[in-house]
Amino acid sequence: MKIEALKDLVAILSIEEKVGQLVQLTGDFFDSNNDVIETGPMKKIGFQKNKYELAHTGSLLNVVDAEEIYKIQKKYLENSKHKIPLLFMADIIYGYKTIFPIPLAQSGSWNFPLIEKSAKVIAKECYDAGIHVTFSPMVDLVRDPRWGRVLESPGEDPLLAKQYAKSMVRGIQGMQGDQISENHIAACVKHFAAYGAPQAGLEYGAVELSTDSLQNYYLPSYKAAIDADVKLVMTAFNTLNGIPCTGNKWLNKDILRETFNFTGLLISDYAAIEELKIHGFTENDQESAQLAFESSVDIDMKTSVYANHLPDLAKKDTRIMKLLDEAVLRVLQLKNALGLFEDPYRGLSELSNSHSVLSDKHKEVSQTLAEESIVLLKNKDILPIDENKKIALVGPYVDEPSALGFWAITGETKDTITLKAGLDSIKEEMKWKVQVAKGSNILEESDIESYAKYASAMSVDEKPKQQLLEEAIEIAKESNIVVMCLGESIYQSGEGGSRTTPVLPDEQVKLLKEIKKLGKQIVLIVYAGRPLILDNVIDDVSAVLYAWFPGTMGGYALANLLSGKVNPSGKLAMTMPRSIGQIPIFYNTYSSGRPIVENNPNHRFASRYLDEKNTPLYCFGYGLSYTEFEYSGFEIDKESMTEQDEIRVSIKVRNVGEKQGKEIVQLYLHDVAARVVRPIKELKDFKKITLNPHEERRIDFKITIDMLKYYNSNEEWASEPGKFEVIIGKDSNDQRFKGSFILED
Ligand code: NOJ
Repeated sequence: MKIEALKDLVAILSIEEKVGQLVQLTGDFFDSNNDVIETGPMKKIGFQKNKYELAHTGSLLNVVDAEEIYKIQKKYLENSKHKIPLLFMADIIYGYKTIFPIPLAQSGSWNFPLIEKSAKVIAKECYDAGIHVTFSPMVDLVRDPRWGRVLESPGEDPLLAKQYAKSMVRGIQGMQGDQISENHIAACVKHFAAYGAPQAGLEYGAVELSTDSLQNYYLPSYKAAIDADVKLVMTAFNTLNGIPCTGNKWLNKDILRETFNFTGLLISDYAAIEELKIHGFTENDQESAQLAFESSVDIDMKTSVYANHLPDLAKKDTRIMKLLDEAVLRVLQLKNALGLFEDPYRGLSELSNSHSVLSDKHKEVSQTLAEESIVLLKNKDILPIDENKKIALVGPYVDEPSALGFWAITGETKDTITLKAGLDSIKEEMKWKVQVAKGSNILEESDIESYAKYASAMSVDEKPKQQLLEEAIEIAKESNIVVMCLGESIYQSGEGGSRTTPVLPDEQVKLLKEIKKLGKQIVLIVYAGRPLILDNVIDDVSAVLYAWFPGTMGGYALANLLSGKVNPSGKLAMTMPRSIGQIPIFYNTYSSGRPIVENNPNHRFASRYLDEKNTPLYCFGYGLSYTEFEYSGFEIDKESMTEQDEIRVSIKVRNVGEKQGKEIVQLYLHDVAARVVRPIKELKDFKKITLNPHEERRIDFKITIDMLKYYNSNEEWASEPGKFEVIIGKDSNDQRFKGSFILED
């Protein structure tokens, strides 16, 4: 449809019908077999009597089954006066049925073309299920592993977060001009803004950020998604410097609409408009409707606030009426970009053979991404595991199907390839003798109880604790190597998964210590939705592979990494602290006027802890390989540049080992003096390269003026003349190769 036709359609809608387009409900309001159910759910969210007709509803969330979607759409259109199809939106965060590693892991692959490919798979599986919009990507920058939703984030670095935003949006939407192409769906970037910075890592907590932090670190990833033409933005639950995001005019109008030029749909997070009152921002629902709507929030997710109050507000105020027409037009434009007016059953026309899900091709992408996301943190000459070894596979994650992670709500645990299944597939070839024992449950009984409501997917062994332990000890005794698969429960991360003490569960630490007493070499595999603090176990183990929640194919990926068929190449997208007191800890921090100095590290009046090092256990950008990469020959092509100019820097990287490997070469800059002080270093570019044994390559980077700009106190992106340091290294702590140049006036 042309825009004129859409405007004509808006013009013939009644006010109530218009508002209906801005109301999003869950599927329980619509029964595909009978007429629409009104009583239960209608009461539950409190529609005022005679104020709202379900038949006007514009979109549904989290109906994810193809047949269900088909039936609901059909029934809906039969009863619909204007035949405007329903939009189906869902939380398909990192996979529909083919589940990928969690986003924090994906980002650590630093392989964004591969992430874009994974997004295409997600879109295709959603398309075939009839879903039109996914509430993904989440691009909230994170610095605090106590927060459970770091799992869904691309990590602590603005450049990685921007790349992730762009790759996901492109892969999901596959835009062709104004249209979302076949096999693709619309993306929704979230949560605008800065939801990833709640105080003390507490879920839904307040966010207090300086202009410098907000503009330079937290906002750029949303902007990258908007530049990639994302069709929807979701507001955040939190307050930002005292104002809830969902009613924040400055954020949603001045920044999102005007500065970032976002013309798509702004949807509230779940019940966030209603929560404006609970925040203490408004006195009643009517005020909430008005403030959210005036701040340009188009769709009210899962409350009756717009439905109950917008019609009256619009009737009284021509300004609101005008905004209403604009918002409805945006909803219709999205329906049009998806081609729903031509085909309301988009993706569902061949229901019977619409099953791309879990195809070999899709699973292959998931496995490759898992292989590139898993990070080798430590390796004291034990990995890869040689042939002919007796392996004891111990721990609650050895055969645990829930390892898909908290936000894989459409994934099925029956499809999970566990580590046991992975080793089973290669043990003959490797001539490994593998014995398996669970050793302990993921959580202790008391903890399981507190998670029970949600914990249905997590398997629990009813055997007495002591028996589980003894079984593990027995097989460990007979082995050459113990591979221990430990981790937090999937219910300990994700939304509502904040933890004050993000460590391995106690029971599992006890298991590890008991095995350690046998004097065996231990390879630790960690399953987690966040960087856990590993200081209490790190010295007990010879190697650590950080698996995160690795997705459907995780077991095969890990088996390939353990056997050396695949060489690890992931590097951390988020710092791993040594202790809780260091949190938040991130690499792009400030110098302080009193940094620790090398020749007097224990100076009382330096910026340091008395009881802990300042450094993390593993820094951002860190990760090992089974081969060694030697860096040399740092070169910088000139000593100064102008605004019109560029500088070239390069380094030689040589694979000095006997295995082919992938290395992520990282370029950092440091603006030495600026009117708003700049961080000690900031990632500005990177290259992921593959080198054969003994191969050497010179890696070139180009420094452009845009890399030297920051959002300054005049509220503009600008560079300041003066000295810049440039550092190339294998991680954010690598200071060996650096030079400097001057940006001329
Ligand atoms: C709340 C979450 O914050 C958001 O990420 C999600 O998309 C919505 N619920 C919808 O389920």
